[in-house]
Amino acid sequence: MSETDESGRTQAIVKAKPAHPPGRAAQSILVALPDDEDRESITRALAAEGYTVFTASRAREALKLLKAADLDLIICDIRFPDRRGVDVLRLAHESHPQLPVLMVAAEGNVAQAVETMKEGAADYLVKPVEPRDFFTRVEKVLSESRKRQELLSLWQDASRRRAAPFIGESGRMMELFDQIRRVAPAKANVLIHGESGTGKELVARSLHTLSPRRERPFMAINCSAFPETLLESELFGHERGAFTGAVERRLGRFELANGGTVFLDEIGEMPLTMQAKLLRVIEEKEFMRLGGDRTIAVDVRIVAATHRDLEALAQNGRFREDLLYRLKVITIEVPPLRDRREDIPLLVEAFLREACEENHKAILGMAPEVTEQLMNYRWPGNVREIRNVIEQMVVLARTPTLTIADLPYPIRGVPPEPSPHGLQLLPGLSMAEIEKKVILATLSAHEGNRTQTAKILGIGLRTLQRKIKEYGLS
Ligand SMILES: Nc1ncnc2c1ncn2[C@@H]1O[C@H](COP(=O)(O)OP(=O)(O)OP(=O)(O)O)[C@@H](O)[C@H]1O
Ligand SMILES: [Mg+2]
Repeated sequence: MSETDESGRTQAIVKAKPAHPPGRAAQSILVALPDDEDRESITRALAAEGYTVFTASRAREALKLLKAADLDLIICDIRFPDRRGVDVLRLAHESHPQLPVLMVAAEGNVAQAVETMKEGAADYLVKPVEPRDFFTRVEKVLSESRKRQELLSLWQDASRRRAAPFIGESGRMMELFDQIRRVAPAKANVLIHGESGTGKELVARSLHTLSPRRERPFMAINCSAFPETLLESELFGHERGAFTGAVERRLGRFELANGGTVFLDEIGEMPLTMQAKLLRVIEEKEFMRLGGDRTIAVDVRIVAATHRDLEALAQNGRFREDLLYRLKVITIEVPPLRDRREDIPLLVEAFLREACEENHKAILGMAPEVTEQLMNYRWPGNVREIRNVIEQMVVLARTPTLTIADLPYPIRGVPPEPSPHGLQLLPGLSMAEIEKKVILATLSAHEGNRTQTAKILGIGLRTLQRKIKEYGLS
């Protein structure tokens, strides 16, 4: 195989000795380095290990190859004669969001290399590159990317089958999906914990649809929605005349779900006496209908969910500890949206499409400031909130492009997070830079009052004055 562009600079070097474990296809790496010596030595080393290598000495060529070749990794210099490496990184991510890019920088440009990690570089190397370290990093980046790809395709596959209709490709969601996939086939009870609107019910449903119980019923019940007797009857059913109003026999969720899954939502709100009854049913795998005298055996998997801290409730005596241990054989934590902001654009796009279809509207897009505000908002109500906000915006929209005026109030005017007092602490700053920023922010928050600033920062006034001078802040 050989690739040549019109300048003749680009070529593919076919592997010399395949070094791949059987079953794993040869992987293609683009070595985009302007320095001839660097490029050639790295190319030779990779080819010797069995990788298919494409090379480029200019950003333009690298971008061309990106389109033409099916790549698994780009090794990219941070500067080219024609463009910055970070531009290649960005463009690569736009067209190939899953393609890992490993940046290479000279010793003097380490800070810039670190910056590229914020832009999504998978890793960076500093020249001169030690061969052993080089291969370790390349393998690590490739294997992480492979894992991500596998998960992504499983995820998309499950999503297509509506088994796990989740949206999200962040690392946190990948982990969640991986956990669901591993836990689903088991019989063990599962406790799902997460803030309101994070998707706990979706997780519960996915556990069911990905389990061998999928052909049997999934019975959900919200434990906070019923007064106690009614809850008992909902769960275990009643005989005719069991209580006033019980005019005929009724089967409960446990009986109806036999062979399937019972989803106990808001389990933290279950009254203590009901908890005792539930515990008995879990232990004995049988129960009686209310007012009945016959035991009924069932085989159900229990999946419970809560936004509460059950351990803390148990410590306060408001949740039975023995029941907690029965329920949380496996615990799944659903991350809040603010911890996986990368998923916001995907969710917005999906909910926008959905709302447009439902409301017969055509929204062509949104102003960049709208996207920015949506990205920065804290989303206390998580996915449910974002879904509602998008739907509301679509319903009320008067123009085909959503503008800042279409955003509901709390989202319209929030400062970016985490940034109290306009203070943004980013990884990659030196301690001195951080100190300077903190002093400046505190000073300006207190109208330049040095005594108060020193007090808040927990340093002496003299020290503060010295630092102000040192950093030239006066
Ligand atoms: N990852 C996701 N992808 C797509 N839709 C999602 C996702 N997570 C949640 N949703 C949607 O958001 C809404 C809330 O999800 P769900 O009811 O599962 O949350 P919850 O954690 O049970 O919330 P609550 O504690 O308020 O009951 C639903 O409409 C659900 O379909
Ligand atoms: Mg719920």
